[in-house]
Amino acid sequence: MRIGVLGCGTVGSSLITLVQRQRGTVEARTGLRLEITRVAVRDAARPRAVDLPAEAFTTDAAALVTDPDVDVVVELMGGIEPARQLVRSALEAGKPVVTANKALLASHGAELFAAADAGGVDLLFEAAVAGGIPFVRPLRESLLGEPVDRVLGIVNGTTNFILTRMTESGADYADALAEAQALGYAEADPTADVEGLDAAAKIAIVASIAFGAEVTVDDVVAEGISDVTAADIAFAGRHGFVVKLLAVAEVDDGADGPEISARVHPALVPSTHPLASVRESFNAVFVQGGAVGDLMFYGRGAGGDPTASAVLGDLVDAAVNRHRGAHASIGPLAPARMRPAEASSSAFYLSLQAADRPGVLAAVAGVFGEHGVSIASMEQEAPTSGGTDLDDGEARIEFVTHLARERDLRATLASLRELDVVRRLGSVIRVLTDEDDKS
Ligand code: NAP
Ligand code: HSE
Repeated sequence: MRIGVLGCGTVGSSLITLVQRQRGTVEARTGLRLEITRVAVRDAARPRAVDLPAEAFTTDAAALVTDPDVDVVVELMGGIEPARQLVRSALEAGKPVVTANKALLASHGAELFAAADAGGVDLLFEAAVAGGIPFVRPLRESLLGEPVDRVLGIVNGTTNFILTRMTESGADYADALAEAQALGYAEADPTADVEGLDAAAKIAIVASIAFGAEVTVDDVVAEGISDVTAADIAFAGRHGFVVKLLAVAEVDDGADGPEISARVHPALVPSTHPLASVRESFNAVFVQGGAVGDLMFYGRGAGGDPTASAVLGDLVDAAVNRHRGAHASIGPLAPARMRPAEASSSAFYLSLQAADRPGVLAAVAGVFGEHGVSIASMEQEAPTSGGTDLDDGEARIEFVTHLARERDLRATLASLRELDVVRRLGSVIRVLTDEDDKS
């Protein structure tokens, strides 16, 4: 089986090495010998940490996908264009494609899956969600008939690595991000990681498969971790929580039928929840099904070798399917009916800085009451001699609410901003509680 690889960066170079290492095993188990014949890169002269002859490299990616010496195409270049056009050309030429490109699938998935079905070939993407964790195949196959209610995931390795460093060693955000980049976890533009867009693409793909509907990245309300402060992390720690970037996809009854919510946001996760112990670049996906109950998938979510492992699994599948004249399909996707963000509910943590004088707490608490938001707990930090960002005569007040509708919480924030005694509104972070546990 002759393989053409688009890209020889973090994942591409790991894949080429892994294929060479595991070729004998794959051949013994499937009867198929995997050969990397062509590799497309931007700069063919750059030295590569892979054992391939110089003539295997090309900068002509378009020619690679239609090359008669290439049976299967692996897309590991990233980005939307030219990846979209190249994947399409390969599928239209009757070649199976394996990709790790979640950004591409979360924006042009329907078009590409239709092209794969029309060509009767595979378009496989295990590595696009949660790196090395075999999750897409179980979701597509084992859970095909399961009434999935909700999927909760830590699906971005870079942000989980940063939050772990900030929580456990008090590391600075910028230093932790630089370390994640050096370890090959981050996207070419790490904004996609830290602003929640990479996780949004992944949860759009998960929601599409879990609910059989065409959910794109534009349907996902995404918020990243760049506003999470050391004070938020400290509050979480004092109250038995850890801060995690969660990707959530869920389905609920709406007035005209089922409605899907898909969102990415930082959350205070109880330290007893299974997702709380997911550290460093590890990812985990927690599935709540109507029949199966709770399931959790856990493993390395980013990095060259773990991701290459998932790509290799797809590659073997695509090669075997091609040999048998078969292909997999995610099936038809219905249009998605999305629930408006303001209609969703959650418990919230919020912090604010206010004047430290009589009557202030009552005024602030009254605003919550006016908007029907019930306070579950609160804590006030008075100024100390140092080590705090509070001015003289100012206190930080932190609240955790009971389950509240997002629109009521937004109205509360708007009124708090109007209050004279409130000097500054700080973080607003959702809290994962038993109250919103659907299982
Ligand atoms: P990367 O290190 O930036 O590598 C990208 C490779 O693609 C480079 O070899 C680059 O060539 C080549 N390339 C880019 N544009 C090209 C073009 N127009 N024509 C030809 N070659 C081109 O990226 P990566 O981290 O390996 O990620 C690759 C894909 O895997 C992305 O879709 C990413 O989202 C996904 N992914 C990554 C991880 C991870 O942990 N890194 C995990 C899961 C999924 P040069 O080397 O010449 O610049
Ligand atoms: N940048 C991504 C992450 C790579 O940090 O999770 C894996 O998709």
